[in-house]
Amino acid sequence: MLYLAIESSCDETAVAVVRSPEGRDEFEVLSNEINSQVDIHAEYGGVVPEIASRAHVEAIAPLTYKALSDANVKPEQIDVVAVTTEPGLIGALLVGVNFAKGFAYSYGKRLIGVNHIKGHVAANYINGKINKPFIAFVASGGHTSIINAASYTDFETVGRTLDDAIGEAFDKIGRRMGLNYPCGAEMDRLAAKGDPSAFRFPAVHMKDGSFNFSLSGLKTHIVNMLNTAEMKGGTLCREDICASLTKVICDSVVHQLDQCFKKYKYKTLLAAGGVLANSHLRKALSDFCAAREIDFHVPPLSLCGDNGVMIAAAAKYELEAGAGSDMSLDGKPSSKDDWKRV
Ligand code: KG4
Ligand code: ZN
Repeated sequence: MLYLAIESSCDETAVAVVRSPEGRDEFEVLSNEINSQVDIHAEYGGVVPEIASRAHVEAIAPLTYKALSDANVKPEQIDVVAVTTEPGLIGALLVGVNFAKGFAYSYGKRLIGVNHIKGHVAANYINGKINKPFIAFVASGGHTSIINAASYTDFETVGRTLDDAIGEAFDKIGRRMGLNYPCGAEMDRLAAKGDPSAFRFPAVHMKDGSFNFSLSGLKTHIVNMLNTAEMKGGTLCREDICASLTKVICDSVVHQLDQCFKKYKYKTLLAAGGVLANSHLRKALSDFCAAREIDFHVPPLSLCGDNGVMIAAAAKYELEAGAGSDMSLDGKPSSKDDWKRV
């Protein structure tokens, strides 16, 4: 089966062509095109939804033709058109959804809508079979979720952030420190040169027995600390701030996952999302899993951020489980309907 997979939920237009035989856990990535809008949004310090939608409109057709020609595949050869429908910026989502519908309609192809969070987790499927059930941890600029997954398609959110996502916290704190948006990667590098015990920051996990997170307290704490230091005419070591805040985030993620594995007694963790590019978080999760004899899966750096390959991988299992979409397919800014609230 040949999948054309389209992702446009935020500030990356992404199109991939992926081959996967029906019923088998095998994937061949024939092309993986990503057009990032980071430079466009950097001057505003964050994603501007209206500008994102327009940039997707400009990019999507040429990127699709490039993905097809790089894969040496003609439109007629595609079997399934997969597209992210939720959650995300609605104007951005609708560009991908409508392009996918047009493509599927023109060439008479099967169409399937994919949940973006399920997509992030699915970036782990392309390396072969994964033992189920598993716990998935997704952290990106817009999402922070712990998921109880009975299968590749049956997901239940058991923990989430009550306010800022982890990537959002990195970006907002980084911006206040004068770094360029998106700040996560730069803060990762700065953290490597700092002292993680230089500052004692508040933990970001909820202490009410839930698997939830809250990051707004950490953000306010650091912004106030920077304001006070500036008022007094002093400066604080950026490397130490990054190292200390990264440590507190890693500790809280490990704490919540530890609680979660104690409850569910599973033996597999899948981590995914743009924040999983963070070297300190990857190591913290890998160490945690090694100590607990848990199988740990995390995508290569190239598939942590938004991409089309992950949408193809999620679509395959949704399709094989009997899902499919018709021309009424629509985008949704949030996916509350499909996800059990904590
Ligand atoms: O998954 P993604 O590409 O887009 C969303 O779906 O949001 O994630 C982007 C987020 C941004 O907040 C960015 O700062 C963060 O991932 N990020 C990182 C790193 N690389 C990207 N955060 C921490 N450390 C990194 N190395
Ligand atoms: Zn994402």
